[in-house]
Amino acid sequence: MLLATLLTLLVVRSVVAAVTWTATPFNPASVPLAVRSPYLSTWLNQGSGTALNADWPRFWTGTILGWAGYINVDGTSYNFLGAPSVPGTNALKASQKSLTFTATQSIFVMTAGPVDLTVSFLSPVEPDDLVKQSFPFSYLTLSASPNDGKSHSVQVYTDISAEWITGDNSLTANWSTTLGSVVTHQVQLATQQPFTEISDHIQQGSAFYSTHNVSGLTYQTGQDIVVRAQFINSGVLQNTQDTNFRAVEDDWPVFAFAHNLGTINGPTSPVVISVGHARDPAIEYIIANGAIQSRSSYFWGQFSTPAAAISSFLGDYSNALTRANAFDAKVQSDAFKISAEYAAVAALSVRQAFGATEITISKNSDGSFNTSDVMMFLKEISSDGNVNTVDVIFPAWPVFLYTNPTLGKYLLLPLFEYQATGQYPNKWAVHDMGASYPKALGHNDGNDEPMPLEGKYPEKTGDQSLLTTYFDLLDQWTQFLVVESLIPANQISTDDFAGSLANQTNLAIKGIVGIKAMSEVASLVGQTQKSQNYSSIAASYVPQWQAFATSSTGKHLTLAYGNDSSWGLSYNMFADKLLQTNVFPESVYDMQTSWYSTVANEFGIPLDTRHTYTKSDWEIWTSGLVTSTSVRDLFVSSVYKYASDGESSQPLGDWYETLNGDVEGFRARPVVGGHLALLVLPGGPATVDSVSTSLAGSESSAAVTSSPPLNTAVSNGATGSRKFGW
Ligand SMILES: *[C@@H]1O[C@H](CO)[C@@H](O)[C@H](O)[C@H]1NC(C)=O
Ligand SMILES: *[C@@H]1O[C@H](CO)[C@@H](O)[C@H](O)[C@H]1NC(C)=O
Ligand SMILES: *[C@@H]1O[C@H](CO)[C@@H](O)[C@H](O)[C@H]1NC(C)=O
Ligand SMILES: *[C@@H]1O[C@H](CO)[C@@H](O)[C@H](O)[C@H]1NC(C)=O
Ligand SMILES: *[C@@H]1O[C@H](CO)[C@@H](O)[C@H](O)[C@H]1NC(C)=O
Ligand SMILES: *[C@@H]1O[C@H](CO)[C@@H](O)[C@H](O)[C@H]1NC(C)=O
Repeated sequence: MLLATLLTLLVVRSVVAAVTWTATPFNPASVPLAVRSPYLSTWLNQGSGTALNADWPRFWTGTILGWAGYINVDGTSYNFLGAPSVPGTNALKASQKSLTFTATQSIFVMTAGPVDLTVSFLSPVEPDDLVKQSFPFSYLTLSASPNDGKSHSVQVYTDISAEWITGDNSLTANWSTTLGSVVTHQVQLATQQPFTEISDHIQQGSAFYSTHNVSGLTYQTGQDIVVRAQFINSGVLQNTQDTNFRAVEDDWPVFAFAHNLGTINGPTSPVVISVGHARDPAIEYIIANGAIQSRSSYFWGQFSTPAAAISSFLGDYSNALTRANAFDAKVQSDAFKISAEYAAVAALSVRQAFGATEITISKNSDGSFNTSDVMMFLKEISSDGNVNTVDVIFPAWPVFLYTNPTLGKYLLLPLFEYQATGQYPNKWAVHDMGASYPKALGHNDGNDEPMPLEGKYPEKTGDQSLLTTYFDLLDQWTQFLVVESLIPANQISTDDFAGSLANQTNLAIKGIVGIKAMSEVASLVGQTQKSQNYSSIAASYVPQWQAFATSSTGKHLTLAYGNDSSWGLSYNMFADKLLQTNVFPESVYDMQTSWYSTVANEFGIPLDTRHTYTKSDWEIWTSGLVTSTSVRDLFVSSVYKYASDGESSQPLGDWYETLNGDVEGFRARPVVGGHLALLVLPGGPATVDSVSTSLAGSESSAAVTSSPPLNTAVSNGATGSRKFGW
């Protein structure tokens, strides 16, 4: 066992050693480049370490998204982005000096001979501005600086391919370039398929590649090797458009910009480029009587054309960067109070969570937008393509609670409004709003994934109106909980991959907290009698549950009642802390805390005794309910160690193996929003001791760059951590 562990460590070490650049805070499994929506999701996969010019950027599924970059220095060309091959040219490869990521930015420094090029990818997170949050655009900026103290003549080039618009490269694209104060390449499928995906890419809408019309700008569209060779050989493009519309993969059309920076002798101001993917309408949503509503991205309420939106987005760059820096600093300093490792994991998780969402509005009958009718949609991603899955929103909830709880309300509204139409036939909460994003068509046949007890209670949002409006629905679900939660029937839980089980302790926890939470809801809306009734039911369930759920040794909760050898992460107790329902006695928390410290594997604590794999989101949730700092840190370090182990080459997967840190089947899922769980607990994480001891089975992970928290002040409470209210 020990030998195996040591061997594993050796492998990890040698793999990590392949990274030749400085990685701050660490080299993740995949670096988010442009990640803002389920369809603008561009990453640089890492494995043991992949430089920005050692592979192509890829969609979260792993398919290539052509995005190439060159820099010419004194007539010598260096490739800094993507992995193009251009026959008949002899561009060199720039050498990656560093990678830094924050909650919103990934910044690479690429050395091209005597010049260092800073390549920054900024995917804004704008929780308090629905227009800006709904922009499906991301920034790429390029800034060059001599590294030898001398002057150099510098030009920079980037392009995107048409791979950004489809999951089937044999389909025909068309495109155009719009000139003016902003220059935009727009490309789309010639045959649009609204609300339809192929291999998770949407077959609708357009990709946009834009930059300001600054002096020294040239553009060109055409075959990849032709356009790239043009720049490599001469440093300028021809301001020409290829109008031979054809398949994405037919002589690969690319859409390029070159910027002549002239002779530089110090850091240049950044060249700013935006890349995006927009479509309209964005979402189909079922309303009363089976009618289908088309919903649009929120920004359409303010901008009537993509060009106007892009112009605003590009023009806002320096303010957007200021806001992003403040947001990043806030996440960093809040999370750093737990640990440097926690700050790193939190930063990596934010874009991924927001990147699964889209904020939408509907239209009035006269065709104008109803900007009061706001709904946020979320794609489950990779486990399947379900829309607003309740048991995916639930684990992701902390990131919305932390950034802006109202976003949580916008996520739940589609579910509440649908159920209030009376079309969903089951008496429990619906599992999701539709099997395939972006079609939120409900489940009028009642045949959604049956997780009766999982549906309950992410109702804690920032707004009491939701609770008043949907009180009867909540009450109906609570009555269901009263009957079903103490002795949970055989069913799957949110961890459905682990199988179904009767009498799941963790489901009973969720049900009991749900009943108690509903007693508070009833109290808030003035239903005192109901409130007292639910409160006393919850209280009466607790000792019964304790008797059913505690192992006969008294050392841990079981996974399933009566099975003494079983146990699991009782992450639903986190909700008791979060909602401050105080349902369970402190002794149960202490018991679980001691237990977890004895059952950790090399890369973490298993989800339950059925398997050795775990879920990173539930580990962090559980770290928020334990009563010891060292056990909390054991969970956090385990997730950090997994996330930084250099073993995986895909956007962070939440499901992984605790024996060796291997990723399991999921990737890029929004549930990593749950990694922010420690930032939303009222009064901070519950701990009683502050001594960090070395615990059985836990190997302290590779050192993180223990930079102090960034001190950039956040000028207002805009992105601050908030207490949720009802
Ligand atoms: C840039 O602006 C100038 C002056 O308005 C215009 O003549 C030129 O065509 C524009 N260039 C592009 C690429 O749009
Ligand atoms: C390109 O395709 C779109 C979508 O079908 C269509 O509306 C547009 O007219 C086409 N443009 C050209 C220049 O063919
Ligand atoms: C706009 O949406 C709000 C919220 O759904 C709704 O109450 C209101 O009636 C809608 N306005 C119109 C004109 O339909
Ligand atoms: C309390 O709630 C339960 C479950 O909904 C219900 O069966 C019972 O009648 C209620 N009792 C009172 C006193 O309201
Ligand atoms: C569930 O637990 C209860 C209480 O211990 C027990 O009576 C019942 O038989 C269990 N059900 C199953 C399916 O094991
Ligand atoms: C008890 O739990 C263990 C571990 O999850 C499992 O292997 C075993 O089959 C369970 N026993 C019964 C009787 O369900």
